[in-house]
Amino acid sequence: MNSDIFSQVDNYISSLLAPEDAVLKATISSLDVANFPQMSVSANQGKFLQVMMILCGAKRVLELGTLGGYSTIWMARALPENGKLITVEIDAAHGELARQNIERAGLSNKVEVKIGQAMDILQTLIAEKAEPFDLIFIDADKPPYTEYFEHAISLSRPGSVIICDNVIREGKVLEATTQDEKVKGVQRLNESLKNNKLVTATILQTVGVKEYDGMVVAVVNRNDH
Ligand code: SAH
Ligand code: DHB
Ligand code: MG
Repeated sequence: MNSDIFSQVDNYISSLLAPEDAVLKATISSLDVANFPQMSVSANQGKFLQVMMILCGAKRVLELGTLGGYSTIWMARALPENGKLITVEIDAAHGELARQNIERAGLSNKVEVKIGQAMDILQTLIAEKAEPFDLIFIDADKPPYTEYFEHAISLSRPGSVIICDNVIREGKVLEATTQDEKVKGVQRLNESLKNNKLVTATILQTVGVKEYDGMVVAVVNRNDH
């Protein structure tokens, strides 16, 4: 889907509303230099995350899956002065590159890159009774997405926003008998949302410069909802 109408329109939107500065461009280039995958969100998706943050007054953000820190930088830029973002990455080399990119962005004071298994760090944060996060962005490995989402709810407050990347997988979620563990993981999450009374959720299909995909956008309900 690269030079078609979706990609051209995505570029039209990003040139107007989500232009990348030198820091964001360098972050994308750093992935190529390190031979890491280009799995970052797009510029417009980064801007979307910022809009969601401002909508829920986000001062504390949790991200699962850092890679080179591209989405991290977009989100950290939408934090207030006293804001904080924790981002979790299993691969120490990804995390180190992210730290460099976050440093170049001048955001090291607001961002903590934690190296470890997302599940372990979620459980630790819950055990420590961490202050609730206002926005949680789930973008790590896909098979445990349902468990990540449930833990994210435990770390939230009413009105917190939970966003999950890559839940449509070029439409492969329609394949009921798929053997693809990533697709099975996001199918399981999507289906779990149907009966989840704790959140009000939808899924946005995403087209543009990236593969055809989608994001869960969920808001944690008030207790009386
Ligand atoms: N959010 C990033 C992209 C993340 S790509 C951006 O948009 O810029 C997914 C990342 O999740 C990879 O870096 C991968 O190493 C990491 N990851 C995979 N499994 C993980 C796990 N179990 N715990 C934490 N991170 C994991
Ligand atoms: C994959 C993971 C991502 O987070 C993404 O945005 C695109 C692809 C993957 O694991 O295939
Ligand atoms: Mg992703």
